[in-house]
Amino acid sequence: MLQLKNVHKVFNEGQPDERVALAGIDLELKSGDFVTVIGSNGAGKSTLMNVITGVLAPDAGEIWMDGKEVTRLPEFKRSARIGRVFQDPMAGTAASLTIEENLSIAFTRNKTRTLARGVTKKRRAFFRERLAELNLGLENRLTAKVGSLSGGERQALSLLMATLTYPSLLLLDEHTAALDPARAALIAEMTERIVRASRLTTLMVTHNMQQAIALGNRLVMMDAGRIVAAFDEEEKKTLTIEKLLAVFQQMRSAASDRLLLNAFPPGAGLPGQGGE
Ligand SMILES: Nc1ncnc2c1ncn2[C@@H]1O[C@H](COP(=O)(O)OP(=O)(O)OP(=O)(O)O)[C@@H](O)[C@H]1O
Ligand SMILES: [Mg+2]
Repeated sequence: MLQLKNVHKVFNEGQPDERVALAGIDLELKSGDFVTVIGSNGAGKSTLMNVITGVLAPDAGEIWMDGKEVTRLPEFKRSARIGRVFQDPMAGTAASLTIEENLSIAFTRNKTRTLARGVTKKRRAFFRERLAELNLGLENRLTAKVGSLSGGERQALSLLMATLTYPSLLLLDEHTAALDPARAALIAEMTERIVRASRLTTLMVTHNMQQAIALGNRLVMMDAGRIVAAFDEEEKKTLTIEKLLAVFQQMRSAASDRLLLNAFPPGAGLPGQGGE
């Protein structure tokens, strides 16, 4: 379904502010896989999403989707097959348009140009049905402007829009992070339900370890542009926050050891040891 082979991305290469965002990512998602991604700030999670959607081109490596190489394919040629929900509830919807207008845009997204974007009676019935599944009463507010919705309602709508036409791949980038705990839990539960019902292949970034463990069938941990730990379906079943934290600590101390070794290669002597 999705395959990343040794993907690299460096920002501002050769400049003082050079950032290695992806340092050789290998990742494969089979159809129906739901992989949660955790990792500290700046680990490269959003960059990973951006090279998958084509917002950014990787410097090296290959990306394959549905058996075709898409590494250099522009974003607009991939967008029909990818649904994406961002952290910012404002990002996925158009505030000045109504709920049904937003859904209509999502509905015609990967259809031929000739299909009108207008809201037909049949379409309206379909939207109402799908909105009702969210249990937020949005099915009774089809003509309300999206700008008048709460963040949680807007995020639920974004999720519905991203999955309305069953994309090959669903990408969720901390899509519950801007919500209060109750709304975050609701959107997480909704995500699980929608992904399962449509068997969507999904990659979800979250800073919430509990959520990362509870959702999906696989989990990967990123740090400094690498996948530093991966848990398959069986391993994930017995995973706990304590175990995850332990792996994280271990990996961190190994990384700082490496840093130290790089800074003070063998023979150079450690600070405070020998020398003058
Ligand atoms: N457009 C850009 N220009 C320069 N540097 C960038 C750009 N985008 C990301 N970076 C850098 O690349 C690294 C990875 O960033 P990225 O946004 O992928 O991290 P992240 O794992 O999503 O972090 P967070 O959890 O904070 O969202 C960071 O050091 C970041 O500063
Ligand atoms: Mg990010």
